[in-house]
Amino acid sequence: MIYFDNAATSFLKPESVYNSVYKTMKLYAGNPGRGGHMLSMKANEIVYEARETVAEFFGIKSVERVCFTNNATSALNFGIKGVIGHKDKVLISGFEHNSVTRPLYAIGADVEVMPWSDYDSKVAVSGDTKMIIVNHMSNVNGNISNIRAIGEYAKKNNIIFMVDASQSAGHIPINIIDDNIDILACSGHKGLLGPQGTGVLYVREGINIKPLIEGGTGSFSEEIAQPEVFPDILESGTLNVAGIGGLCEGIKYINKYGLYEKHNREKELMKSLVTGLRNIKKVIIYNNKNTTIDENLVSINVSGWDCVSLANFLSEKYGVCVRGGMHCAPLAHKTMGTENTGTVRISLSHFNTFAEINHFLNIIDKIANVM
Ligand SMILES: Cc1ncc(COP(=O)(O)O)c(C=O)c1O
Repeated sequence: MIYFDNAATSFLKPESVYNSVYKTMKLYAGNPGRGGHMLSMKANEIVYEARETVAEFFGIKSVERVCFTNNATSALNFGIKGVIGHKDKVLISGFEHNSVTRPLYAIGADVEVMPWSDYDSKVAVSGDTKMIIVNHMSNVNGNISNIRAIGEYAKKNNIIFMVDASQSAGHIPINIIDDNIDILACSGHKGLLGPQGTGVLYVREGINIKPLIEGGTGSFSEEIAQPEVFPDILESGTLNVAGIGGLCEGIKYINKYGLYEKHNREKELMKSLVTGLRNIKKVIIYNNKNTTIDENLVSINVSGWDCVSLANFLSEKYGVCVRGGMHCAPLAHKTMGTENTGTVRISLSHFNTFAEINHFLNIIDKIANVM
């Protein structure tokens, strides 16, 4: 089996992640913050260490502003619906995932999509824009938005800046201060190498956010109203302690391996993949606009093939896992001009090998030349 669907969820995780999940479930999984006994305290320690590790990874000074969610979708919903109201003006990039566009649609926000050419530098907004939301790295073609410049612009204009870092976290450095980020949402189970069922939401002090879910927080239990302190305000109900502990190990592994080194390895693998694909006639590669493909994912089509059929064929005949279709991001396809075809997305991990890339290229060459 070759796994090239790491943008959906990373499949191979560091050994320390598997061990941590097992150990937490088997030995320590009390309910964090819900008692003074040893298992509850141990669970608390696991969650706190993870919070500190996430905070340090993204340059977040106030550890309590890091909230754990089930995935990026919940983090994005919390960040959007907790801050944005009906008819509020929101500017988004043309690469947003459905987990941004659908909540905005559900609220009835007044959404404007910025032209692709604006992602690098300046953005033009109308005076009463409340929030700018940018997908840091497209899950369809790997396009990188210059969040630092857009964030600076948002800051100068008093606009809340929210970044969906689901694809970039764990691949590209992110620093919430340097990048001027007010709200950061990401998955824990993709580039950060944590288990499924994990996501992260950071909300800067001073941002007025309403909780979407109220309930037990283990704090201020005598009060009827949801606590307003962080992270409790956004963390009702029992946390996924085993998942959060695993996520912490995923980030510790990246710190040890080196984020830069991990990214470089992914880039080298991608370079070899794209160079090979460029040599196969009938393969269409969807570049980001700078025509370089540096990141760990790329979209292609093979002429004569429907993308979903090709992805299914690759799995059934060759044991290759890639994703075909819209990738939950129809807006991105509209921006790229692939809304009628979809694409086959190949997304790598630093755990992949050059031998796997070569094998895959041989398969694609064979398929393309048979047609
Ligand atoms: C850019 C982007 N945003 C949000 C999500 C949603 O992530 P999750 O599956 O963790 O909810 C994804 C998932 O593929 C994504 O690629």
